[in-house]
Amino acid sequence: MAADRRSKADTLALRQRLISSSCRLFFPEDPVKIVRAQGQYMYDEQGAEYIDCINNVAHGQYHTSGWQASLKGNPGVHRKSGRRISSRKPCPRNILFFFFLDSSSEANDLALRLARHYTGHQDVVVLDHAYHGHLSSLIDISPYKFRNLDGQKEWVHVAPLPDTYRGPYREDHPNPAVAYANEVKRVVSSAQEKGRKIAAFFAESLPSVGGQIIPPAGYFSQVAEHIHKAGGVFVADEIQVGFGRVGKHFWAFQLQGKDFVPDIVTMGKSIGNGHPVACVATTQPVARAFEATGVEYFNTFGGSPVSCAVGLAVLNVLEKEQLQAHATSVGSFLMELLRGVGLFIGVDLIKDEATRTPATEEAAYLVSRLKENYVLLSTDGPGRNILKFKPPMCFSLDNARQVVAKLDAILTDMEEKVRSCQTLRLQL
Ligand SMILES: Cc1ncc(COP(=O)(O)O)c(C=O)c1O
Repeated sequence: MAADRRSKADTLALRQRLISSSCRLFFPEDPVKIVRAQGQYMYDEQGAEYIDCINNVAHGQYHTSGWQASLKGNPGVHRKSGRRISSRKPCPRNILFFFFLDSSSEANDLALRLARHYTGHQDVVVLDHAYHGHLSSLIDISPYKFRNLDGQKEWVHVAPLPDTYRGPYREDHPNPAVAYANEVKRVVSSAQEKGRKIAAFFAESLPSVGGQIIPPAGYFSQVAEHIHKAGGVFVADEIQVGFGRVGKHFWAFQLQGKDFVPDIVTMGKSIGNGHPVACVATTQPVARAFEATGVEYFNTFGGSPVSCAVGLAVLNVLEKEQLQAHATSVGSFLMELLRGVGLFIGVDLIKDEATRTPATEEAAYLVSRLKENYVLLSTDGPGRNILKFKPPMCFSLDNARQVVAKLDAILTDMEEKVRSCQTLRLQL
């Protein structure tokens, strides 16, 4: 492809003319024109190098192995891909069937269909502030979106985020896992009282747009018990958080304890590291119920040899470059300063410790100052005050030191110069 020689202003004008404004820009007041990227770095049209801490796709930009693999794709890779994913320990023994698709949204939409066929029920329980994809079916189960659109459908039931920092049950609660799971039980019972029947509980294994939340260990097994009792299945969305991002485990749901096994796992984003491929893994009974309809699952590009070759190449790079262990060590370093797991970290900016009031404007200001310092990151959470550290897994210890030093300098500067930030604290 020929290099784009347009000025940033011309590119923006063209974009404004041709692209819907609902496709938002990061940093709308002064967007960055990224013209190339490699590993954890992004480069603008002037050659300035930015450290990427925003990445939803975990393994780093444009690793050449993935693209070389895409040129070498062959039909055998489809079978191998399922086998390689299922060999990721401890891929639950009863998760046996794999569907390959083109996008993460397709994966969650199929998970919804599988759950409904298997259970014969229609309704879904989701966590507050969740986002599960851009298809109509998924906007309906994404409070993050539907709250700003036409609202909650009667078949959707929302349970509180298991957030032990801001939620109703906090660090000082004797058993937040049980308390939050009981909230799900309460939501299920109230739906049942209205004659509704639960098909599934959908949750990201670590809710991301909700504010980089780490549910208390044991919460998922307790929730699964309530959901199974209601005849539903547990869907773990590993689209952002799977594939080693959390460091010590390959799947983020493993943080919940050895005994927990979801009924359906959805994967995307990192599985192709930039190439459009996604996957749904499930148990034999769920897959069989779907087959029993007699209707084939057809997806023109899903599971193409090229996509599966890219997926295998990503797994190879992950192993060869020991990115999972790397995420653990860089993550542990950052963890001395911030809260999170592996390279999935949230910094909750608050105005004061007693009320934990979100420091929303300060967070936005910090993000723009970091951008001036060539670090790209974003905010999230209901109060948009959580700094999301989601660098690619090749993010180095040196990068971590640089980012923390810059963050520190800006915070010090803010405390001196910005009155409204005088009570700003980094919650460790
Ligand atoms: C948790 C989660 N699930 C599903 C999706 C949908 O992914 P895609 O836009 O690739 O279809 C996203 C995208 O941001 C996501 O964060």
